[in-house]
Amino acid sequence: MTQVPKGIIDKDRDPEQLLVLLKEAQDKAGYLSEEVMAELAESLSISRSEVYGVATFYSFLSTKPLGRNVIRICQSLPCYLKNYQTIVESIEKEIGIRPGQTTDDDRFTFTLTNCIGACDKAPAMLINSDVHANLTPEKISQILKDYK
Ligand code: FES
Repeated sequence: MTQVPKGIIDKDRDPEQLLVLLKEAQDKAGYLSEEVMAELAESLSISRSEVYGVATFYSFLSTKPLGRNVIRICQSLPCYLKNYQTIVESIEKEIGIRPGQTTDDDRFTFTLTNCIGACDKAPAMLINSDVHANLTPEKISQILKDYK
């Protein structure tokens, strides 16, 4: 097992804050590696499967390395009803990958997510922490240019 870099996990935290700890660890390490999850389980005296279960349940957590820009398209009902699939297809065409993949140059990771709180402006997506709403296929190319 490789050594987890110091500072990834705060060992003095309450296991009930597992989600917060996972997010903090991901922010520091870039993603949740097997080593980070094992270290977190050990330090909190909980099972690895519990940590893994939480890490894989939430779409904002990743157990795989992420690209420099993470595109998250909302697939919840209001966005679904506003043809979110056409936005997915536009992004696939623009960057050449499908949801769940990362570009070869690590510039983009593309994924689907649940509601991001912009339902009144559906369809919507996040790129990193930036909300883009009222999306149309025509807007996608221009939006992505800002992240290339
Ligand atoms: S349903 Fe898409 S932002 Fe809420």
